[in-house]
Parts: sequence; structure tokens; C-alpha cells
Amino acid sequence: MAFKMNSPAGKAILARARNGDYAHPGEEEAILAAVEGLPRGSIRRLLDVGCGRGGTADWFRRQGWGEVTGIDIDALSIRYASQRYPEVRFQQQDICSLAAGQFNGFDLIYLFTALYAFPDQAEALRRMRNAARSGGFLLLVDYTRPAGSPPPPELGPEIGNPIERETLAGTLSAAGWALQAETDWSRRFVGWYEDLLMRFERERDWIVGTHGPDWYAYVTGWYGALRQALDEGRLGGTVVRAVAEDRIGAA
Ligand SMILES: C[S@@+](CC[C@H](N)C(=O)[O-])C[C@H]1O[C@@H](n2cnc3c(N)ncnc32)[C@H](O)[C@@H]1O
Repeated sequence: MAFKMNSPAGKAILARARNGDYAHPGEEEAILAAVEGLPRGSIRRLLDVGCGRGGTADWFRRQGWGEVTGIDIDALSIRYASQRYPEVRFQQQDICSLAAGQFNGFDLIYLFTALYAFPDQAEALRRMRNAARSGGFLLLVDYTRPAGSPPPPELGPEIGNPIERETLAGTLSAAGWALQAETDWSRRFVGWYEDLLMRFERERDWIVGTHGPDWYAYVTGWYGALRQALDEGRLGGTVVRAVAEDRIGAA
């Protein structure tokens, strides 16, 4: 069996341990901290890219932010999210093949630990710029890595392509986004993953009973390695806010 945290089983285990349909560190605490300072009055239409099982999209809806659309490449997660949160619109969609005009005019596009998982981040950022109105916001919570160093090899392909903070402003600008603020959340990520590891321990019987002992060994091993890489500075965390410029980035 192939173990992957971004698989439906991986996301289901995370949702159980996190007590909500979240596959990002810090759950609701992270969402609350990430939206701090956003001009809420100018935001009515929101796009959640890489929405997973839909918990974050439904959080924004419940908190009265406006009309939320969630997209994800994973059909099973979208099916689950559509059934669980019928008041949010969900659609299976690879962000890198979002057609021009398919989605447009969004006031806020947000991604909670999703950009790192996209194979072509520059393309994804361009497509998202196309989906935003000029002056609309991009909010990213994601993993980072020190410039020029590969992601920690022990995490395998699952860790994808964490952001290089040093080149982020240029990457955003090439896609038509102006960086407004970036805050290092590395120490917060360490604390949130320590907490998650304790939650796995508490849910051990359920994880083993529902998914089997190999899944338990996999999640505790992978997240243990992730926590250590964060602690040693070989990986970090960040929250980023950018604004859609009038121009759209060239392909
Ligand atoms: C770590 S999960 C985060 C899920 C969600 N944002 C949350 O916080 O619960 C990353 C998500 O990105 C999705 N994803 C990966 N590649 C994608 C792509 N090319 N287009 C859209 N979604 C993608 C995965 O299926 C997965 O649900």
C-alpha cells in the first residue's frame, strides 16, 4: 500500500486527530491569526484553493465572510466536502489547468498548506491571479525552506516544494501579485506539530482500528520527522499576504 498524507485516508486521519476537517497546522487558531488585518469589508467572494475536506472553507462561511468556493484536485475529498458542507460550493479542479474566465473576480484567494503540493507554483499563482479582481487578496499559509537547499530528504516527495522566502516576492510579482506582508511562523509550526503528535497518540486505537497499524506508524513517523526538520530550521512556516496588481502575469 502507498502511504500518502494527501490521500483520502491520510486526510481522514488528520481530520480525526485535529477534530475537524483540517489538513493544515494550527487548525482554527491558524486561520484566525492568518486573517488578522485583512480588510474584511471589501471581501465578499472567496476561493479556497487546495481545499481538501472543506473544513476551512466552511469556517469562512460560518464566520460570515461571504460566498465561498473550494477547489481541489482530489475527487474523493471534493465528494466528501460537498456532502458534509452543502452550503459551500466545491469543485474538483487542478489549479494549474484552471481556464481563463472559468473563475474570476474573487476578492480573496487563500491556500492553507497547499501551494507546496503544487508541481508548478508559478503557473498556479498566475492562474489564481486571473481568478482574482484587481486589488483582491492572496493569503498563503505554507512551508518554507532555506534558499538553495532541497526539502528534507527523509520527508520524501510528500513535502513537495516548500516556498523559498528569499525569492517569494519575485515569484509573486511575475504572476501579477504584489507582496504586502510575510511573517515567519516557523516556531508556531513546531508547537502545532508537537500538539498534533500528541493527538495521534490519543487517537492511536481509532487509527489502528480503522486504518491499520501501518498507517499509525506512517503518520507518527512522517510527522515526527517533519517536527524535527522544523525544529532544526531545515524547514519553516510562513504566512504571506499579497495583492492582485492591475496587470496579469505573463505565461
Ligand atoms: C495539505 S492539504 C491542505 C488541505 C486544506 N487546505 C486544509 O487546510 O485542510 C493540500 C491539498 O492540496 C490539494 N492539491 C494538490 N495538488 C493540487 C492541484 N494541482 N490543484 C488543486 N489542489 C491540489 C491536495 O489534494 C490536498 O487536498
